[in-house]
Amino acid sequence: MPSFVPHKVIFFGEHAVVYGYPSISSTVDLFSKIYLIPNKFHYQQTPFVQGALKFLNKEDVYVKVESNVPSGSGLGTSSMVIVGILLHNPELRGERLAKVAYEIEYSVQGLGSPIDTSTIVAGGFVMTNGNYGIPLWEVTKNDKKWKFTNLPGKNLDLIIVYVGNKGSTKEQVEKVRKFMNRGRFAREIMERIGEITREGASAIVRNDLEKIGELMKENHKELKIFGLSTPTMEKVIEIGNSYGYGAKLTGAGGGGSVIILTKERDKIREKLNELNLQFFETSTTSVGAFFK
Ligand code: MEV
Repeated sequence: MPSFVPHKVIFFGEHAVVYGYPSISSTVDLFSKIYLIPNKFHYQQTPFVQGALKFLNKEDVYVKVESNVPSGSGLGTSSMVIVGILLHNPELRGERLAKVAYEIEYSVQGLGSPIDTSTIVAGGFVMTNGNYGIPLWEVTKNDKKWKFTNLPGKNLDLIIVYVGNKGSTKEQVEKVRKFMNRGRFAREIMERIGEITREGASAIVRNDLEKIGELMKENHKELKIFGLSTPTMEKVIEIGNSYGYGAKLTGAGGGGSVIILTKERDKIREKLNELNLQFFETSTTSVGAFFK
């Protein structure tokens, strides 16, 4: 039997969350199925897969992932695979599952925040380091602490556009770290992203689509200053800003995906087809990873 694991998007606050600022992420209605099939040959195992299997003491299995979403999409594939494997142990659920999954991701990546793993486990709109919503759990690493809450909010219609492999999250996080080490300017951008995220939480709870879109546009502009956008992303952003409520890169950036808050769906579809890009018409969901 497989586990069912959703992808995630980040509406506000990626990168800033690494430094303790708030973020808002959500699971989306794009689920992958993850099967553990007994097999004594250890092939095709990425370090994330190896880490999760090792934790389960199940190294003689083949991990089959059925997914429509390409890896490197910036939609949380590595966290998704880790969570999907761990779910095969019935003792790993909720907070414990989120914490173990983050430990495995961190042990491979050596940096980053627990937002992807916690969002995929919890489902719905997940706020990190905010004072809104229903408390979930806290995750700590070294001297850092992230507090998670579930935000109430209506599901949002999205078009997620895949603009090509994003390369490693690690590279993008390190790129931002260099800016942060250089001085006050980068911190000011992070402060602004923090404000955008807090305003975003209230807009999501009120289901104020115009405001959510406007804040997405602004958050994207700030991320662009760090060099996280690409020329193809900018073409998609232009379409999203013209025919959607707003658009932004989601996740680490440098490729990956752009999210558009859908308004004129047909027009967006037509324009994206002209660019010959792969896209997913979906919505946020309140459902997190599960095993039936
Ligand atoms: C990646 O999905 C989000 C980043 O903020 C990195 C992290 O939080 O681990 C870019």
